[in-house]
Amino acid sequence: MSRKEAPAGTSAEFKVKELGKGGAWQAYRSLMYGDMPLWKVLWAECLFFFLSHLGGPLGLMLRMKLYPSLFRHCGRKVVFGRGVLIRHPHKIDLGDGVVLDEGATVDAKGVSNHGITLGEKVYVGRQSTLYCKNGDMRVGARSSVSAHAILFSSNDLELGEDCVVASFAYILSGGEYDVNDPTPFALQKGTCTKGPTRLGRSVWVGTGAKVLDGASLGDRVVVAAGAVVTKPQLARAIVGGVPAKVLRVVDLPAPPPPSENAPPC
Ligand SMILES: CC(C)(COP(=O)(O)OP(=O)(O)OC[C@H]1O[C@@H](n2cnc3c(N)ncnc32)[C@H](O)[C@@H]1OP(=O)(O)O)[C@@H](O)C(=O)NCCC(=O)NCCS
Repeated sequence: MSRKEAPAGTSAEFKVKELGKGGAWQAYRSLMYGDMPLWKVLWAECLFFFLSHLGGPLGLMLRMKLYPSLFRHCGRKVVFGRGVLIRHPHKIDLGDGVVLDEGATVDAKGVSNHGITLGEKVYVGRQSTLYCKNGDMRVGARSSVSAHAILFSSNDLELGEDCVVASFAYILSGGEYDVNDPTPFALQKGTCTKGPTRLGRSVWVGTGAKVLDGASLGDRVVVAAGAVVTKPQLARAIVGGVPAKVLRVVDLPAPPPPSENAPPC
């Protein structure tokens, strides 16, 4: 797969540091809310100020009742743990039964992106971060992102249904600077990308593993703990090491329908 610049309107022309030109309030508003209308920004600020760190069942219940008004779409029975950080909620869709556990961050930042979509019953663990830099992200139904994992998109990141991402894993779409450009990396206009990163259905990414930009994974791929996946991998492969190589391919029929699936570990 050849390296290409991110398409116009995405990360190539997007720099977080340039968001906040025009004073502290404008910088804060750009970073947290982008083009969200002012009345909604103020409403969000009130909710976050009073409810974000409210403990116990009262906090949980009030966030469950009032936070949904902030999102582009929010399904039924969505749970927001204490200290959940939401940025650009007007570009976030949450399916029924999504759980954002304590301290999770969901940030759909960008100027021309669609944002983040979490399917029904997606679980985002404690202190995990899902964030965009003008990219898009979709996480399929029932997928689970364990504590301290990171999903980043400055291009297009997709996880299929029933995936498990273990703690401290990092999955990227985009996030590559141009090593052939003499400009210092921090001053480059934006990041390059090899193309979208797509994980199929029922993929398991082990603890501490990294899945780099463009390294799409077929259905039922297992990424061993600590692996760094640099290239696309075919369905049912177990891959491990740095860079990741195929350890073996599991001979399995297609995954069972969702109702028969065991809950994620
Ligand atoms: C990869 C894994 C699933 C085991 O798969 P498996 O096919 O049963 O593997 P085996 O234990 O039979 O080992 C097969 C080979 O892979 C190697 N291997 C296993 N885990 C590895 C890893 N993390 N990195 C590199 N190589 C690994 C083994 O050393 C063995 O090599 P050998 O044939 O040269 O002796 C497991 O080791 C793993 O990494 N699990 C992730 C656990 C995790 O992150 N859990 C978080 C909770 S969701």
